[in-house]
This record gives sequence, C-alpha cells and structure tokens, in this order.
Amino acid sequence: MGGKGLFITLEGIDGSGKSTQARLLADHLRAQGYQVVQTREPGGAPGAEDIRALVLQGDPDRWSPETELLLFTAARRDHLEKTILPALNAGKIVVCDRFADSTRVYQGVTRGDLRDKVDELHRLMIGREPDLTLIIDMDPETGLARAKGRGGDEERFEDFGLDMQRQMRAAFLDLADEFPRRCRVIDGNRPPEEVAAEVNAHAEAALL
Ligand code: ADP
Ligand code: TYD
Repeated sequence: MGGKGLFITLEGIDGSGKSTQARLLADHLRAQGYQVVQTREPGGAPGAEDIRALVLQGDPDRWSPETELLLFTAARRDHLEKTILPALNAGKIVVCDRFADSTRVYQGVTRGDLRDKVDELHRLMIGREPDLTLIIDMDPETGLARAKGRGGDEERFEDFGLDMQRQMRAAFLDLADEFPRRCRVIDGNRPPEEVAAEVNAHAEAALL
C-alpha cells in the first residue's frame, strides 16, 4: 500500500446490509494483520456525529434538500479531517459505511435534484474519492423491511417509503456505471457470509 492506506466505502439503499458487511470486512482485514479504521457517515468524528443527530432525527420535512446537502457536506469535511485522512496518511485501511456516493444519490437524485451542486461542493470541500466502492445491491422491499425492523429514532429518511427506495437502487446502479474503475456491484440478496466472501475478494484484489 506504499504507506498511503486504502480507502474502501460501502454503499447501497437503507437496509441493504452495509453496516453488517463493513463490520465483517474490518474483522477479516484485521485478522490478516492490517490496521483498519471502521467508520460511517454521516458521523465518524465527534462533530460529525453531532451533525448526524441533527440531520437524521425529526420530521421528514425538517430540512430542505439544499440544507441537507450542506449538513452532510459539513459532516463529511469534519470526518475527512479528523478521521479518514489521518488514518490513510498513517497507512491504515479505512472501511467507511456510506460516503459521497450517498450524497450523489440522496441529495443529487432522490430527495433533491441537486447533482450539480453536490458535485460542486464535493470539488470545493471534499476532493477525495474512495479507492474502492462496494455497492450492495438489494431488492427495495426487502431493504425497507430490514431497515424498519431495526427501529430506533433515526428514521427520518426511511419514512420516505418504497418508491424512493426503488429510485435509490437505480441511482446507485447508475453510479456504478459512471465510476466503473472504483465501483463494484455485489448482490446483497444472499446470506451475510456469502456476501462477505465477495466483499473480501474485492478488497483483497485492491490490496495487491
Ligand atoms: P444497512 O447498514 O445497509 O442499513 P444493516 O447491515 O444494518 O444494513 O442490515 C439491516 C438489517 O438486515 C439488520 O437487522 C441485519 O442484521 C440484517 N441483514 C444484514 N445483512 C443481511 C443478509 N445478507 N441477509 C439477511 N439479513 C441481513
Ligand atoms: P445510515 O445510518 O447509513 O442508514 P441505513 O443504515 O439505514 O442505511 O444513513 C442514514 C441516512 O442518511 C440514509 O437514509 C441515507 C442518508 N444519507 C444522505 O441522504 N446523504 C448522505 O450524504 C449520507 C451519508 C446519508
């Protein structure tokens, strides 16, 4: 890895199994002797976690898509400065549950039609893409049922329903076509260990 670390992100609709796979991948890589930082968005640093609570809790119409874009980008900038870049500069592997592709899909396509602004803010304030992005593809009904089954108080987005889950799935698959060098699509409609085997294989290929 030449001392520069490896930045891996997991993406996909709500309930697709990203957090499960992020944990399994981090465990697998640690067992191989790698130093791994497992993190998530929105959040992943103390300030960014405060922004997470603001943006994920409350009424669905609490924030406009434009305000959401600013909040997610602010959280990402803090996460990048405090967690991601220091780990990569120390030669570690960063496994991150969601990153800028989620903003491209949610604020760019489904919750707002803001893709140009998403890209402009990304260029100005983030300017870093993952080395490898694993998109866990999932039937929208199953994803929604899984996400709802989890409960909790962070359901501001899941309240938007099945139609939006369908659009999100299509938008993630479009991103895989747009960024073929770093994106891999993985079928998430299988037992977690089977999905994990494919996730591990892609990560190991990127480490060669
Ligand atoms: P996400 O982070 O994408 O929202 P999670 O990893 O939190 O998804 O998974 C959502 C729910 O589905 C959890 O209850 C989890 O245990 C379950 N789950 C995750 N992966 C699978 C799978 N491959 N098959 C069945 N259930 C799964
Ligand atoms: P997350 O906790 O990963 O939800 P889940 O585990 O259900 O997939 O993310 C919370 C929500 O935030 C999710 O619905 C997607 C949304 N989100 C955006 O709209 N834009 C973003 O930039 C990010 C990172 C997340």
